[in-house]
Amino acid sequence: MAGKYDVIVLGAGAAGMMCAIRAGRRGRSVLVLDHAAAPGDKIRISGGGRCNFTNIHAGPKNFLSANPHFAKSALARFSPKDFLAMVESHGIAWHEKTLGQLFCDDSAKDIIRMLTDEMRSAGVDLRLRTEINAIEPIAGGGYRITTSGGTFEAASLVVATGGKSIPKMGATGFAYRIAEQFGLPLIETRPGLVPLTLDPQLLQRLAPLSGIAAPVEIRHGKTAFREALLFTHRGLSGPAILQISSYWREGDEITVAIEPDVDVFIMLKAARQANGRQSAQTALAEILPKRLAQHFAEGEGMSGNMADQGDKRLQQLAAAVQAWPVKPSGSEGYRTAEVTLGGVDTTCLDSKTMQVKTIPGLFFIGECVDVTGWLGGYNFQWAWASGHVAGEAA
Ligand code: FDA
Repeated sequence: MAGKYDVIVLGAGAAGMMCAIRAGRRGRSVLVLDHAAAPGDKIRISGGGRCNFTNIHAGPKNFLSANPHFAKSALARFSPKDFLAMVESHGIAWHEKTLGQLFCDDSAKDIIRMLTDEMRSAGVDLRLRTEINAIEPIAGGGYRITTSGGTFEAASLVVATGGKSIPKMGATGFAYRIAEQFGLPLIETRPGLVPLTLDPQLLQRLAPLSGIAAPVEIRHGKTAFREALLFTHRGLSGPAILQISSYWREGDEITVAIEPDVDVFIMLKAARQANGRQSAQTALAEILPKRLAQHFAEGEGMSGNMADQGDKRLQQLAAAVQAWPVKPSGSEGYRTAEVTLGGVDTTCLDSKTMQVKTIPGLFFIGECVDVTGWLGGYNFQWAWASGHVAGEAA
């Protein structure tokens, strides 16, 4: 005999749990199925263990999608303030780190505990370590789910199994296969918020810089971010690189301006006037880490005294520091990507409910949908918001 529910949610991640809570609070009987041993594994490791659970500035402009308008409705109906109210009602201490990014003071586990407590009080059944073997529509309406733990039926099926990022943590791309099973269109998936790699030659030149971080403005076409860049032994990382990686495509160039708030040319001229006997490297080291100053000064062949360098040479050095073109060779891929770009094409979903327009009772939410946020709490806000609106409708 199949266990019968009003709603079955596949995936006990951020989006799935939020959806289950909302549907349960509406009096719907809800079952959440997950193959993992614990709910919310990605929440646990997020934000360096403190979970950057939302961003107070989150709005549609912070998301990438083939349809930039799609996220508007859900984001408006469940805002960062709404999530914060839930956090505060559970007495979880939080702080704003930077740029509107809200983190737990203590541990990301507080957020998981909050969500599992909420599910329990909303009467939601949670079954972990459960493999999903088959999904079939039932004639006359509803869905039958065959699992390693039995067969279940429900009028509504919500797919919240996330994307492909971090396969080591159980990411499977399962949602895309379900979408294909139901004949739904997909936007090509690719890793997002991911470190970028460099070709061996450039990597060798930059090897001495490994471990150095610097504030930068990083640009790809019209998109720019001001955050920190980190040189690593594999290439480039840090928040600035993760942000731009979601916009970057194979073969594209990005432009890096190191210390964007400083006019390096003016600074170099002033240094020359103040002390003509110092080297350009020494002058640059006033604003850049020493090894970085050395890299740029040597790269531009700036040896000798500043007094011997004309304005043109100083301009060239300033341009090397603040208009540095870099052509990454690739990305580190899903192994380390924080998110998956692309996914279930939003044209087939109702933006108010996340329900498939042509298939009653079937919903897709969270990361598996073609809506991807910037770094900084935006992706969880999308998971909460899309989960909430689906939970209102399922
Ligand atoms: P999520 O991946 O969370 O959940 C999917 C669930 O489905 C999982 O529990 C999984 O086990 C289950 N599942 C998958 N396949 C299945 C199958 N075949 N059968 C059964 N169950 C299956 N975002 C942010 O806003 N702030 C942050 O601080 C961070 N930090 C961060 C760090 C790291 C290292 C990563 C990898 C990611 C982040 N993110 C983030 C991104 C954020 O974690 C992500 O956007 C959300 O977890 C997406 O929520 P979902 O519920 O859609 O998927």
